[in-house]
Amino acid sequence: MLRILRELDVTDKRVLVRVDYNVPLQDGHVADDTRLRESLPTLEYLLAHRAKIILVSHLGRPKGTVVAELRLDPVAQRLSELLERPVTKLNECLGPAVHRAISQMQPGDIILLENVRFYPQEEANDEAFARELAQLADCYVNDAFGTAHRAHASTYGVAKFLPAAAGLLLEREVTMLSRATHNPPRPFLAIVGGAKIADKLGVLKDLIGRVDAFLIGGGVAFTLLQAQGARVGSSLVDERMLDEARQCLQKAREHKTEIILPHDVRIVRESAGGWEHAVAPAHEIPDGWQGWDIGPQTGALFQERVASAKTIVWAGPLGRFERPPFDAGTREVAQAIARSGAFAIIGGGDTAAALQQSGLAHAQNIHFSTGGGATLEFLGGRKLPPIEILRKG
Ligand code: 3PG
Repeated sequence: MLRILRELDVTDKRVLVRVDYNVPLQDGHVADDTRLRESLPTLEYLLAHRAKIILVSHLGRPKGTVVAELRLDPVAQRLSELLERPVTKLNECLGPAVHRAISQMQPGDIILLENVRFYPQEEANDEAFARELAQLADCYVNDAFGTAHRAHASTYGVAKFLPAAAGLLLEREVTMLSRATHNPPRPFLAIVGGAKIADKLGVLKDLIGRVDAFLIGGGVAFTLLQAQGARVGSSLVDERMLDEARQCLQKAREHKTEIILPHDVRIVRESAGGWEHAVAPAHEIPDGWQGWDIGPQTGALFQERVASAKTIVWAGPLGRFERPPFDAGTREVAQAIARSGAFAIIGGGDTAAALQQSGLAHAQNIHFSTGGGATLEFLGGRKLPPIEILRKG
């Protein structure tokens, strides 16, 4: 059982809230505000209890240095619009200016600290840094489900030093995802794509034996295809993960879990006249061409498998959906899920954005998880330290 927000005394208190506002930005604006919207119930609960809200989040992977484009100002602006109240963005997480601003807060005020990954101590889960974060507040709420697979100072370390609880989003995510880990109806299908190949392959390995079949797209597919000896042209491959990819394929054979890779792909290459498009067999992509989406035959096959599934988990788009027409594979498979009526969990900010564009955000049978890697690790049965530390007893 998780310690939940309702069990924490937040009235008139300074509450440090770890959110996951790792959202796509475009031209200095938030391009997809799903993760911000999903945090609103917790923020509204805290506002109703006259709390002083201190938000902390990461954005991107600045690797412990200040990266101007990864400052959280656009996030503060969008959040302020959504809440219809001011959100004060600070340029640091610690230091005298931060302490001064917090000491002047009134109930209902909201501060957003700077990108916490500008500090190398964050990812190192540095204890002194966690302690300093804890000193900013009276209690701690973790609502950053998307970052629940990272045992960092602001997601994990800090919870040791303050009364701590799961926010409403984290609580709902754990409840919904548990439906797929405790006797899920079968056939159980996992759809895996996207560009964070290292993360996805590790967890794919965990899911082997738990799910009946995988449908694979995106960079994960090209890495697995290359590991099988296919020619994938200039497609996205994580060379460092080829051994891991081979181990996944071997483990899947041993467990008789099907891994279904694309048969055909939509490919592109840049030429003098602009971008050229074509469809090619996934095993024989010509040099200089990149696979940007699953092909039409693969799309039809994936939709067929989805139609007969009872439980589906999905993380990572199947192609470069942000560049139509390479959104087709992702969009059509999503529509097939909505039609199927299967209980589906769709994870990953990118995938959620793709589906919103497809008008599926309100499909009753689909839980849109705010996590990508976190969702897959949870479903793969891994213990996620930021969640474990919030468990009672
Ligand atoms: C995500 O988007 O998956 C989370 O925000 C975690 O980001 P990370 O993979 O950079 O840790």
